[in-house]
Amino acid sequence: MKDLTPARDSLDPIEIASRDEISSLQLERLRWTLNHAYSNVAHYKQQFDNAGVHPDDLKSLEDISKFPFTVKSDLRDNYPFDMFAVPREQVARIHASSGTTGKPTVVGYTQTDIDNWATLVARSMRASGTKPGDIVHVAYGYGLFTGGLGAHYGAEKLGCTVVPVSGGMTERQVTLIQDFKPSTIMVTPSYILSILDAFNAHNIDPRDTSLDVGIFGAEPWTNAMREEIEEAFDMHAVDIYGLSEVMGPGVANECVESKDGPTIWEDHFYPEIINPDTGAPVADGEQGELVFTSLTKEAFPIIRYRTRDLSRLLPGTARSMRRMEKITGRSDDMIILRGVNVFPTQIEEQLMRVQALAPHFQIELTRDDRLDVMTIHTECTQTAISEEAMKEAGNKLSGLIKDAIGVSAVVKVDAPGTVARSQGKAVRTVDNRPKN
Ligand code: DLL
Repeated sequence: MKDLTPARDSLDPIEIASRDEISSLQLERLRWTLNHAYSNVAHYKQQFDNAGVHPDDLKSLEDISKFPFTVKSDLRDNYPFDMFAVPREQVARIHASSGTTGKPTVVGYTQTDIDNWATLVARSMRASGTKPGDIVHVAYGYGLFTGGLGAHYGAEKLGCTVVPVSGGMTERQVTLIQDFKPSTIMVTPSYILSILDAFNAHNIDPRDTSLDVGIFGAEPWTNAMREEIEEAFDMHAVDIYGLSEVMGPGVANECVESKDGPTIWEDHFYPEIINPDTGAPVADGEQGELVFTSLTKEAFPIIRYRTRDLSRLLPGTARSMRRMEKITGRSDDMIILRGVNVFPTQIEEQLMRVQALAPHFQIELTRDDRLDVMTIHTECTQTAISEEAMKEAGNKLSGLIKDAIGVSAVVKVDAPGTVARSQGKAVRTVDNRPKN
């Protein structure tokens, strides 16, 4: 793989500024944000008043913990536009996430917000090793989802040639990668695996493509999956993190030279980790739920948003800004199987250790009598297609899961192509337990 480390002088100065500079910028921007939200969003005024806090109470960054959290249901309760802090006419764009239940959550951006977002995605891409003038293949979905348009505007901002393919039509993805020769692909980690299948089906070696880097996010993926993708494509695989409520892709991004967890763009977002049960902030380095406060957003300022994503805050390495540990999972994705907490990423990690298995899986939960049963549906590779090889691979995986996670799982290995493929975010868990 090529050395794609960006030149130091191509970085935004704040990326490598001193911690003091970063903190004082954060404090100034946090004050502005709290005032902006309090003065212009009825929900925030009411929440702050109920909690007996006022924006003037923020004297230091730590004082943020006095302010109330924002959760997804607050957005639903203010559907569609009541969380906006500017007149609707000044909102240049809307995005929304469908969610699994109820109304979508709606977010808005002023023209300045769109511009800041593009700048941060451009910064994320530069951190990933993409350079001005490169061709960028965007296979995140376009539309209300923030992935496609977020990536698109960032790539343009960086000065790249953007190919707005969006998700789906996997055969065409292969053709366009072959014909247009992009250096960079931006896509979910699960969908790159579908694209990989298509390369293999056509007997085209993906290692021979022009791709130097893949910028993967929108769902959890493990370092084991990173190795798999890097090996298959002979390209760097870096992690991009974000969520619509906070902005979209590009809240944090890994640096290609270190690949040690996404660097949080702290000049635009103030991160905290809290204990998900008590809500109390925990120290850097400790596991918990990520909480973000936006620092510059005009249309949709967000105060202490509980992401439900589980991670840790780590000191800066390639940049002065802090990193977040690669996401283990969302608290909503956690499966509690006979008292043991299991995340789909833990299953992925073990699956990657079995050579005869392809990197596709889905977890099914059922109930047998009164006991919950976890079945891992996966498939063998083309080279391990015999009954016996499939059985052996299944036994191996259930053994690894038992040893590493401490739970018993039924593993069903099928022929290649049998596990449902994703064109965006993978559905990792199907819950078929009776609802009561
Ligand atoms: O998924 C934004 C995005 C698009 C990020 C493209 C990266 C690339 P939402 O649809 O609002 O926004 O979903 C946000 O996806 O809270 C995490 O649970 C998950 N997520 C996003 N990026 C990562 C990542 C976009 N790199 C939710 N690793 C978040 C793990 C991620 N999970």
